[in-house]
Amino acid sequence: MVRPDPRLPGRWSTARAADVDIIVRIIFTALSGIFFGILSIVVRAATIAIWVGIHNSRWEEGNIGIMLAHVECDQEPRPQMIDLQGVTKEFVKPSGAIHTVLQDINLSIDKGEFCSIVGPTGCGKSTTINLIAGFEQPTGGRILVDREPLEGINRHAACVFQTDNTFPWKTVLENVSLGLRLRGVAKSKAHEEARYWIARVGLTGFEHHYPHQLSGGMKKRVALAQCLIVQPAILLMDESFAALDVHTRSLMENELLAIWEDTSASVVFITHDLEEAIALSDRVVVLTAGPAATIKGDYPIPLTRPRNVAEIRFTEQFMKLHEKIWNDLRDEVMIGYAQSAQCLPDRGGQEGRA
Ligand SMILES: Nc1ncnc2c1ncn2[C@@H]1O[C@H](COP(=O)(O)OP(=O)(O)OP(=O)(O)O)[C@@H](O)[C@H]1O
Ligand SMILES: [Mg+2]
Repeated sequence: MVRPDPRLPGRWSTARAADVDIIVRIIFTALSGIFFGILSIVVRAATIAIWVGIHNSRWEEGNIGIMLAHVECDQEPRPQMIDLQGVTKEFVKPSGAIHTVLQDINLSIDKGEFCSIVGPTGCGKSTTINLIAGFEQPTGGRILVDREPLEGINRHAACVFQTDNTFPWKTVLENVSLGLRLRGVAKSKAHEEARYWIARVGLTGFEHHYPHQLSGGMKKRVALAQCLIVQPAILLMDESFAALDVHTRSLMENELLAIWEDTSASVVFITHDLEEAIALSDRVVVLTAGPAATIKGDYPIPLTRPRNVAEIRFTEQFMKLHEKIWNDLRDEVMIGYAQSAQCLPDRGGQEGRA
Protein backbone atom coordinates (compact mmCIF):
# COMPACT_ATOMS: atom_id res chain seq x y z
CA MET A 1 0.00 0.00 0.00
CA VAL A 2 1.22 3.49 -0.94
CA ARG A 3 1.29 5.96 1.86
CA PRO A 4 0.26 9.61 1.19
CA ASP A 5 3.06 12.18 1.23
CA PRO A 6 2.35 14.54 4.18
CA ARG A 7 3.98 17.49 2.29
CA LEU A 8 1.56 17.19 -0.68
CA PRO A 9 -2.19 17.47 -0.98
CA GLY A 10 -3.70 14.00 -0.29
CA ARG A 11 -5.01 12.74 -3.73
CA TRP A 12 -2.09 14.08 -5.82
CA SER A 13 0.62 12.65 -3.55
CA THR A 14 -1.06 9.21 -3.46
CA ALA A 15 -1.37 9.08 -7.26
CA ARG A 16 2.26 10.22 -7.89
CA ALA A 17 3.68 7.67 -5.45
CA ALA A 18 1.70 4.92 -7.20
CA ASP A 19 3.10 6.00 -10.62
CA VAL A 20 6.66 6.02 -9.31
CA ASP A 21 6.13 2.54 -7.94
CA ILE A 22 4.90 1.26 -11.30
CA ILE A 23 7.78 2.92 -13.19
CA VAL A 24 10.31 1.38 -10.81
CA ARG A 25 8.78 -2.05 -11.33
CA ILE A 26 8.81 -1.64 -15.13
CA ILE A 27 12.46 -0.51 -15.13
CA PHE A 28 13.41 -3.38 -12.81
CA THR A 29 11.65 -5.94 -15.03
CA ALA A 30 13.24 -4.48 -18.18
CA LEU A 31 16.72 -4.43 -16.64
CA SER A 32 16.45 -7.99 -15.38
CA GLY A 33 15.21 -9.11 -18.83
CA ILE A 34 18.19 -7.41 -20.51
CA PHE A 35 20.57 -8.90 -17.91
CA PHE A 36 19.32 -12.46 -18.35
CA GLY A 37 19.24 -12.03 -22.16
CA ILE A 38 22.89 -10.92 -22.22
CA LEU A 39 23.81 -13.72 -19.79
CA SER A 40 22.17 -16.30 -22.06
CA ILE A 41 24.02 -14.91 -25.15
CA VAL A 42 27.34 -14.94 -23.27
CA VAL A 43 26.83 -18.54 -22.11
CA ARG A 44 25.96 -19.68 -25.67
CA ALA A 45 28.90 -17.80 -27.18
CA ALA A 46 31.25 -19.34 -24.61
CA THR A 47 29.91 -22.84 -25.37
CA ILE A 48 30.40 -22.36 -29.11
CA ALA A 49 33.90 -20.92 -28.57
CA ILE A 50 34.91 -23.93 -26.42
CA TRP A 51 33.50 -26.40 -29.01
CA VAL A 52 35.28 -24.68 -31.91
CA GLY A 53 38.48 -24.50 -29.87
CA ILE A 54 38.42 -28.23 -29.13
CA HIS A 55 37.82 -29.13 -32.77
CA ASN A 56 40.48 -26.72 -34.00
CA SER A 57 43.02 -28.13 -31.63
CA ARG A 58 42.14 -31.67 -32.76
CA TRP A 59 42.50 -30.60 -36.40
CA GLU A 60 45.81 -28.96 -35.58
CA GLU A 61 46.96 -32.06 -33.72
CA GLY A 62 46.01 -34.12 -36.79
CA ASN A 63 47.89 -31.76 -39.06
CA ILE A 64 50.87 -31.72 -36.78
CA GLY A 65 50.77 -35.54 -36.82
CA ILE A 66 50.77 -35.53 -40.61
CA MET A 67 53.56 -32.94 -40.69
CA LEU A 68 55.60 -35.02 -38.27
CA ALA A 69 54.97 -38.10 -40.39
CA HIS A 70 56.30 -36.17 -43.37
CA VAL A 71 59.31 -35.04 -41.39
CA GLU A 72 59.90 -38.64 -40.33
CA CYS A 73 59.54 -39.77 -43.94
CA ASP A 74 61.91 -37.02 -45.01
CA GLN A 75 64.40 -38.07 -42.38
CA GLU A 76 64.29 -41.76 -43.22
CA PRO A 77 63.46 -42.21 -46.90
CA ARG A 78 63.14 -45.78 -48.12
CA PRO A 79 66.42 -46.72 -49.80
CA GLN A 80 66.44 -46.81 -53.60
CA MET A 81 66.50 -50.24 -55.23
CA ILE A 82 66.32 -49.38 -58.92
CA ASP A 83 67.53 -46.09 -60.37
CA LEU A 84 67.31 -45.31 -64.08
CA GLN A 85 69.38 -42.19 -64.71
CA GLY A 86 68.83 -40.53 -68.10
CA VAL A 87 68.33 -43.91 -69.75
CA THR A 88 68.02 -43.98 -73.55
CA LYS A 89 67.58 -47.14 -75.61
CA GLU A 90 68.09 -47.30 -79.36
CA PHE A 91 67.77 -50.33 -81.63
CA VAL A 92 69.25 -50.64 -85.10
CA LYS A 93 66.56 -51.52 -87.61
CA PRO A 94 67.16 -54.07 -90.40
CA SER A 95 67.42 -51.04 -92.72
CA GLY A 96 70.29 -49.75 -90.62
CA ALA A 97 68.27 -46.80 -89.33
CA ILE A 98 68.31 -46.05 -85.62
CA HIS A 99 65.04 -46.53 -83.73
CA THR A 100 64.99 -44.68 -80.42
CA VAL A 101 62.59 -46.52 -78.14
CA LEU A 102 63.22 -44.76 -74.82
CA GLN A 103 64.62 -41.26 -74.41
CA ASP A 104 66.15 -39.88 -71.22
CA ILE A 105 64.15 -41.93 -68.70
CA ASN A 106 64.69 -40.94 -65.06
CA LEU A 107 62.93 -43.35 -62.75
CA SER A 108 63.84 -44.44 -59.27
CA ILE A 109 62.00 -47.20 -57.40
CA ASP A 110 62.45 -47.75 -53.68
CA LYS A 111 63.02 -50.96 -51.77
CA GLY A 112 59.65 -52.61 -51.18
CA GLU A 113 57.82 -50.30 -53.58
CA PHE A 114 55.18 -51.64 -55.98
CA CYS A 115 55.44 -49.58 -59.17
CA SER A 116 53.34 -50.15 -62.29
CA ILE A 117 54.25 -48.85 -65.73
CA VAL A 118 51.47 -48.21 -68.24
CA GLY A 119 51.60 -46.84 -71.76
CA PRO A 120 50.38 -47.46 -75.29
CA THR A 121 51.37 -50.58 -77.16
CA GLY A 122 54.90 -50.49 -78.55
CA CYS A 123 56.01 -47.54 -76.39
CA GLY A 124 58.82 -49.46 -74.67
CA LYS A 125 57.39 -51.00 -71.50
CA SER A 126 58.93 -54.45 -72.11
CA THR A 127 62.16 -52.76 -73.17
CA THR A 128 62.21 -51.00 -69.78
CA ILE A 129 61.78 -54.35 -67.98
CA ASN A 130 64.49 -55.94 -70.15
CA LEU A 131 66.87 -53.10 -69.28
CA ILE A 132 66.22 -53.50 -65.54
CA ALA A 133 66.63 -57.29 -65.86
CA GLY A 134 69.95 -56.70 -67.63
CA PHE A 135 68.78 -58.54 -70.78
CA GLU A 136 69.40 -55.32 -72.74
CA GLN A 137 71.96 -52.56 -72.14
CA PRO A 138 71.07 -48.85 -72.30
CA THR A 139 72.60 -46.88 -75.19
CA GLY A 140 72.58 -43.74 -73.03
CA GLY A 141 72.49 -43.06 -69.28
CA ARG A 142 72.91 -45.75 -66.64
CA ILE A 143 71.00 -48.05 -64.30
CA LEU A 144 71.84 -48.49 -60.62
CA VAL A 145 70.59 -51.51 -58.68
CA ASP A 146 70.91 -51.23 -54.92
CA ARG A 147 73.13 -48.18 -55.64
CA GLU A 148 75.58 -50.19 -57.75
CA PRO A 149 75.83 -49.75 -61.55
CA LEU A 150 74.12 -52.66 -63.31
CA GLU A 151 76.49 -54.67 -65.45
CA GLY A 152 75.17 -57.73 -67.27
CA ILE A 153 72.29 -59.74 -65.83
CA ASN A 154 70.55 -58.32 -62.77
CA ARG A 155 71.17 -60.96 -60.07
CA HIS A 156 68.71 -59.26 -57.69
CA ALA A 157 65.77 -59.71 -60.07
CA ALA A 158 63.35 -62.47 -61.01
CA CYS A 159 60.91 -62.18 -63.92
CA VAL A 160 57.35 -63.38 -64.52
CA PHE A 161 56.36 -62.93 -68.17
CA GLN A 162 53.03 -63.24 -69.96
CA THR A 163 54.04 -66.60 -71.42
CA ASP A 164 54.91 -69.50 -69.13
CA ASN A 165 58.49 -69.93 -68.08
CA THR A 166 57.99 -73.48 -66.81
CA PHE A 167 59.85 -76.45 -68.26
CA PRO A 168 57.24 -78.87 -69.70
CA TRP A 169 59.30 -81.97 -68.92
CA LYS A 170 59.64 -81.12 -65.21
CA THR A 171 57.03 -81.55 -62.47
CA VAL A 172 55.73 -78.62 -60.43
CA LEU A 173 58.10 -79.57 -57.60
CA GLU A 174 61.10 -79.76 -59.95
CA ASN A 175 60.17 -76.51 -61.71
CA VAL A 176 59.76 -74.59 -58.47
CA SER A 177 62.92 -75.98 -56.85
CA LEU A 178 65.03 -75.37 -59.97
CA GLY A 179 66.19 -71.87 -58.98
CA LEU A 180 67.66 -73.16 -55.70
CA ARG A 181 69.15 -76.25 -57.34
CA LEU A 182 70.97 -73.98 -59.84
CA ARG A 183 72.35 -72.04 -56.86
CA GLY A 184 73.81 -75.26 -55.50
CA VAL A 185 71.24 -75.95 -52.77
CA ALA A 186 70.96 -79.66 -51.90
CA LYS A 187 67.97 -81.45 -53.46
CA SER A 188 66.23 -82.29 -50.16
CA LYS A 189 66.53 -78.70 -48.91
CA ALA A 190 65.44 -77.28 -52.29
CA HIS A 191 62.40 -79.57 -52.34
CA GLU A 192 61.49 -78.62 -48.78
CA GLU A 193 61.57 -74.91 -49.73
CA ALA A 194 59.67 -75.65 -52.95
CA ARG A 195 56.89 -77.37 -51.00
CA TYR A 196 56.53 -74.25 -48.83
CA TRP A 197 56.21 -71.97 -51.90
CA ILE A 198 53.90 -74.41 -53.70
CA ALA A 199 51.63 -74.24 -50.64
CA ARG A 200 52.00 -70.43 -50.51
CA VAL A 201 50.61 -70.10 -54.05
CA GLY A 202 47.82 -72.59 -53.33
CA LEU A 203 49.05 -75.62 -55.27
CA THR A 204 49.46 -78.22 -52.53
CA GLY A 205 48.58 -81.62 -54.00
CA PHE A 206 49.91 -80.74 -57.46
CA GLU A 207 53.62 -81.20 -56.69
CA HIS A 208 53.97 -84.13 -59.11
CA HIS A 209 51.86 -82.72 -61.94
CA TYR A 210 53.47 -81.59 -65.20
CA PRO A 211 52.67 -78.12 -66.63
CA HIS A 212 50.37 -79.54 -69.34
CA GLN A 213 48.22 -81.02 -66.56
CA LEU A 214 47.59 -77.55 -65.06
CA SER A 215 45.18 -74.71 -65.92
CA GLY A 216 46.47 -71.31 -67.08
CA GLY A 217 46.04 -69.84 -63.60
CA MET A 218 47.85 -72.79 -62.00
CA LYS A 219 50.78 -72.41 -64.41
CA LYS A 220 50.98 -68.75 -63.43
CA ARG A 221 51.12 -69.78 -59.77
CA VAL A 222 54.00 -72.13 -60.58
CA ALA A 223 55.79 -69.28 -62.38
CA LEU A 224 55.29 -67.04 -59.34
CA ALA A 225 56.56 -69.71 -56.93
CA GLN A 226 59.59 -70.28 -59.22
CA CYS A 227 60.49 -66.60 -58.80
CA LEU A 228 59.63 -66.19 -55.13
CA ILE A 229 61.61 -69.22 -53.94
CA VAL A 230 64.88 -67.39 -54.61
CA GLN A 231 63.54 -64.44 -52.55
CA PRO A 232 64.41 -61.79 -55.13
CA ALA A 233 64.86 -58.19 -54.06
CA ILE A 234 63.22 -57.19 -57.36
CA LEU A 235 60.22 -58.84 -59.00
CA LEU A 236 59.75 -57.90 -62.66
CA MET A 237 56.31 -58.71 -64.07
CA ASP A 238 55.51 -58.08 -67.73
CA GLU A 239 51.77 -58.48 -68.35
CA SER A 240 51.98 -61.57 -66.18
CA PHE A 241 48.22 -61.96 -65.70
CA ALA A 242 47.11 -60.76 -69.14
CA ALA A 243 46.27 -64.26 -70.44
CA LEU A 244 44.09 -65.20 -67.44
CA ASP A 245 40.30 -65.00 -67.30
CA VAL A 246 38.92 -62.12 -65.28
CA HIS A 247 38.09 -64.13 -62.12
CA THR A 248 41.39 -66.04 -61.99
CA ARG A 249 43.17 -62.79 -62.64
CA SER A 250 41.48 -61.09 -59.72
CA LEU A 251 42.38 -64.02 -57.44
CA MET A 252 45.99 -63.98 -58.61
CA GLU A 253 46.24 -60.21 -58.08
CA ASN A 254 45.06 -60.58 -54.48
CA GLU A 255 47.43 -63.48 -53.88
CA LEU A 256 50.31 -61.51 -55.37
CA LEU A 257 49.59 -58.60 -53.00
CA ALA A 258 49.31 -60.93 -49.98
CA ILE A 259 52.68 -62.56 -50.80
CA TRP A 260 54.38 -59.26 -51.70
CA GLU A 261 53.25 -57.66 -48.41
CA ASP A 262 55.16 -60.42 -46.57
CA THR A 263 58.36 -59.63 -48.49
CA SER A 264 60.38 -56.46 -48.98
CA ALA A 265 60.65 -56.93 -52.75
CA SER A 266 60.42 -54.02 -55.14
CA VAL A 267 57.95 -54.83 -57.92
CA VAL A 268 57.95 -53.40 -61.44
CA PHE A 269 54.63 -54.39 -62.94
CA ILE A 270 53.86 -53.81 -66.62
CA THR A 271 50.24 -53.84 -67.70
CA HIS A 272 47.85 -52.45 -70.30
CA ASP A 273 45.12 -52.40 -67.67
CA LEU A 274 45.06 -49.10 -65.79
CA GLU A 275 42.58 -50.47 -63.22
CA GLU A 276 44.93 -53.35 -62.44
CA ALA A 277 47.84 -50.93 -62.14
CA ILE A 278 46.02 -48.66 -59.67
CA ALA A 279 44.55 -51.54 -57.63
CA LEU A 280 47.96 -53.16 -57.08
CA SER A 281 50.45 -50.32 -56.89
CA ASP A 282 52.01 -47.72 -54.64
CA ARG A 283 52.73 -45.73 -57.76
CA VAL A 284 51.73 -45.66 -61.45
CA VAL A 285 54.09 -44.31 -64.12
CA VAL A 286 52.67 -43.33 -67.53
CA LEU A 287 54.92 -43.53 -70.60
CA THR A 288 54.31 -41.46 -73.73
CA ALA A 289 53.68 -43.07 -77.11
CA GLY A 290 56.90 -43.91 -78.89
CA PRO A 291 59.26 -43.48 -80.52
CA ALA A 292 61.57 -41.83 -78.01
CA ALA A 293 59.09 -42.48 -75.20
CA THR A 294 59.52 -40.50 -71.99
CA ILE A 295 57.72 -40.41 -68.67
CA LYS A 296 54.51 -38.40 -69.00
CA GLY A 297 53.17 -38.79 -65.47
CA ASP A 298 54.16 -40.32 -62.15
CA TYR A 299 51.23 -40.83 -59.75
CA PRO A 300 51.39 -41.96 -56.12
CA ILE A 301 48.47 -44.27 -55.20
CA PRO A 302 47.52 -43.48 -51.60
CA LEU A 303 44.92 -46.28 -51.27
CA THR A 304 45.12 -48.08 -47.93
CA ARG A 305 46.55 -51.60 -47.61
CA PRO A 306 45.78 -54.45 -47.35
CA ARG A 307 43.60 -54.13 -50.44
CA ASN A 308 41.02 -56.34 -52.07
CA VAL A 309 41.60 -55.57 -55.74
CA ALA A 310 38.11 -56.68 -56.75
CA GLU A 311 36.42 -54.34 -54.28
CA ILE A 312 38.74 -51.33 -54.19
CA ARG A 313 37.80 -50.48 -57.79
CA PHE A 314 34.36 -49.33 -56.62
CA THR A 315 35.62 -46.77 -54.11
CA GLU A 316 35.33 -43.06 -54.88
CA GLN A 317 39.05 -42.50 -54.26
CA PHE A 318 39.92 -45.21 -56.79
CA MET A 319 37.59 -43.75 -59.42
CA LYS A 320 39.06 -40.26 -58.98
CA LEU A 321 42.59 -41.63 -59.38
CA HIS A 322 41.52 -43.58 -62.45
CA GLU A 323 39.98 -40.50 -64.07
CA LYS A 324 43.07 -38.40 -63.36
CA ILE A 325 45.58 -40.93 -64.74
CA TRP A 326 43.38 -41.91 -67.68
CA ASN A 327 43.28 -38.25 -68.77
CA ASP A 328 47.07 -38.50 -69.16
CA LEU A 329 47.13 -41.95 -70.71
CA ARG A 330 44.24 -41.52 -73.16
CA ASP A 331 46.05 -39.04 -75.45
CA GLU A 332 49.10 -41.30 -75.68
CA VAL A 333 46.96 -44.37 -76.40
CA MET A 334 45.25 -42.49 -79.23
CA ILE A 335 48.62 -41.44 -80.68
CA GLY A 336 49.82 -45.05 -80.38
CA TYR A 337 46.75 -46.42 -82.15
CA ALA A 338 46.97 -43.79 -84.85
CA GLN A 339 50.63 -44.65 -85.44
CA SER A 340 50.02 -48.37 -85.67
CA ALA A 341 46.85 -48.03 -87.78
CA GLN A 342 48.03 -45.42 -90.25
CA CYS A 343 51.84 -45.71 -89.95
CA LEU A 344 52.02 -41.99 -89.20
CA PRO A 345 55.42 -40.31 -89.38
CA ASP A 346 57.19 -40.57 -86.01
CA ARG A 347 57.15 -37.65 -83.60
CA GLY A 348 60.25 -35.59 -83.16
CA GLY A 349 62.06 -36.96 -86.20
CA GLN A 350 63.80 -39.56 -84.06
CA GLU A 351 63.33 -42.32 -86.56
CA GLY A 352 65.45 -42.74 -89.62
CA ARG A 353 68.64 -41.31 -88.14
CA ALA A 354 71.54 -43.06 -89.70
N1 LIG B 1 65.46 -56.35 -79.88
C1 LIG B 1 64.84 -55.40 -80.58
N2 LIG B 1 65.32 -54.98 -81.76
C2 LIG B 1 64.72 -54.00 -82.44
N3 LIG B 1 63.61 -53.35 -82.01
C3 LIG B 1 63.10 -53.74 -80.84
C4 LIG B 1 63.67 -54.77 -80.06
N4 LIG B 1 62.94 -54.91 -78.94
C5 LIG B 1 61.95 -54.01 -79.03
N5 LIG B 1 62.04 -53.31 -80.17
C6 LIG B 1 61.15 -52.23 -80.58
O1 LIG B 1 61.00 -51.36 -79.48
C7 LIG B 1 59.69 -50.83 -79.47
C8 LIG B 1 59.11 -51.04 -78.09
O2 LIG B 1 58.91 -52.42 -77.88
P1 LIG B 1 58.38 -52.98 -76.49
O3 LIG B 1 58.24 -54.45 -76.64
O4 LIG B 1 59.26 -52.48 -75.40
O5 LIG B 1 56.96 -52.25 -76.39
P2 LIG B 1 55.82 -52.48 -75.32
O6 LIG B 1 55.49 -51.14 -74.76
O7 LIG B 1 56.17 -53.55 -74.39
O8 LIG B 1 54.61 -52.93 -76.27
P3 LIG B 1 53.38 -53.90 -75.91
O9 LIG B 1 52.50 -53.08 -75.02
O10 LIG B 1 52.75 -54.15 -77.21
O11 LIG B 1 53.91 -55.11 -75.23
C9 LIG B 1 58.92 -51.51 -80.57
O12 LIG B 1 58.84 -50.63 -81.67
C10 LIG B 1 59.75 -52.72 -80.92
O13 LIG B 1 59.66 -53.02 -82.28
MG1 LIG C 1 55.45 -55.50 -73.98
